[in-house]
Amino acid sequence: MKSHDTIIILDYGAQYSQLIARRVREANVYSHLVSWSTPAAEVLAHNPKGFILSGGPNSVYDDGAPTLPDYVLKSGLPILGICYGMQLLAHRLGGKVSYSQHREYGPAALLVDQVDDPLFRGWEIEGQSARGNLQQVWMSHGDKVEALPDGFRPLAHSDNSPFAAAADVARNYYAVQFHPEVVHTTQGSRLLSNFVHHICGCGADWTPVNFIEEQVTAIREQVGNGRVVLGLSGGVDSAVAAALIHRAIGEQLTCIFVDHGLLRQGEAAQVVETFQREQGMNLIAINAVEEYLDALDGVTDPEQKRRLIGEKFVRIFEREANKLGQIDFLAQGTIYPDVIESAGKGKKDAHVIKTHHNVGGLPDDMDFELVEPLRELFKDEVRTIGTALGLPDSIIWRQPFPGPGLAIRCLGQITWERLERLRQADAIFVDELRQADMLRLGTQQSFAVLLPVKSVGVMGDGRTYQEVIALRAVTTEDFMTADWARLPYDLLAKVSRRIVNEVAGVNRVVLDITSKPPGTIEWE
Ligand code: XMP
Repeated sequence: MKSHDTIIILDYGAQYSQLIARRVREANVYSHLVSWSTPAAEVLAHNPKGFILSGGPNSVYDDGAPTLPDYVLKSGLPILGICYGMQLLAHRLGGKVSYSQHREYGPAALLVDQVDDPLFRGWEIEGQSARGNLQQVWMSHGDKVEALPDGFRPLAHSDNSPFAAAADVARNYYAVQFHPEVVHTTQGSRLLSNFVHHICGCGADWTPVNFIEEQVTAIREQVGNGRVVLGLSGGVDSAVAAALIHRAIGEQLTCIFVDHGLLRQGEAAQVVETFQREQGMNLIAINAVEEYLDALDGVTDPEQKRRLIGEKFVRIFEREANKLGQIDFLAQGTIYPDVIESAGKGKKDAHVIKTHHNVGGLPDDMDFELVEPLRELFKDEVRTIGTALGLPDSIIWRQPFPGPGLAIRCLGQITWERLERLRQADAIFVDELRQADMLRLGTQQSFAVLLPVKSVGVMGDGRTYQEVIALRAVTTEDFMTADWARLPYDLLAKVSRRIVNEVAGVNRVVLDITSKPPGTIEWE
């Protein structure tokens, strides 16, 4: 990739580190998140124009607490320390950090004392008090800086933090106790933008148009006259990767779409319509419905379903790719959070909650060179690029859909009849949400689940004994935690009425009102 003005974010384990990287990019500056312990040579190879030190769960006084590497100070580049990053900078440069067992958590009113500092350029005035202008910031810390190192001066304070912001302007060292990366710090994005533009001197060259142009050049260079194959799932990441690579190399790209029969209503047809007809790509659509149904026959265990579906995909993909003759490259819609997540794998002894499988996540032993043009992007950047490439909103703004598809929403035995029942109920739910304008605004993910339970009902004068549909709709920012969406009763009543009337084999509808945790979003 062409070199951009780059900001390095050293990650000290904060919940919000990825958000810092996103905010910097929203200011049109490329940022790269690395662990604080990454070797100096690797970090400096990015030729950064400044460093941001993230927050983190430690106290600088903890045994084995993460430290500030020497090369960062020696570089002479601007540094912004956030929360733990601030304490680390102060501690290292001879200031004093006070240890506290009590956390200050939540909103606080910030009083800016040095309004002319570049950090506060363009801040909107929110509230006035006898003492000056008040700005809302978000605090989440225990320890705090009690005495600043030589050369530093306070820039802003709050009731609990005398040094809520401070700087050594001669050396371009800046530090804030609050979290500018979260939305509750109302001028936070502006602060980060000021740091990267006015203190580090970065240009605003990280834009969708630049990105597309550079990637088109990079893909052409990498691929030459070679041929590329890509597994299309219909999800936004593989869709945008396909559109970008197609723009670069056209006919040299072949996409393989495996219809496993576990997609939602109309989805398989939409993929073919969009990519083959509208975008004019080489698309091989494989109807593997029977093969999947055979493999899943009699399987009810969630993990076994997931494994079987993942393995089957790999086998079918390999088989179809082999039929194409000489293929040199495999393209994937890997995005930045996937890269960060896999870099973190193996570090923690985490429990496997669910075996996640992404269509396109292929084993290492496949003999292809990888083309991954979205490796540097966050999801919202992927969407912007996709729109700029002309993909329809229906693909760009699709709700997340799990790789194993409806198999993990069709609890118990998977048969075509039960999948169709689920598909119909799901389509009714989504249709009503869309009509009520709730599909994006009221819930970030919403779907029907078919339960392996029968219950008694009465229809007309007759007894029924049929299956149950559960409605699941959640609000969430990151899908790591979620709450159940408070959908209007009238909407729910209509969905329920339509499902029992229109879907054969269903006589009862229930609503899932479990948050995550302790529930997960999917049922299996
Ligand atoms: P859970 O159920 O773990 O889901 O709360 C969190 C988010 O991940 C999606 N999900 C998957 N996505 N492959 C995927 O690509 C999978 O195997 C998978 N399983 C769950 C789920 O839909 C939700 O958005």
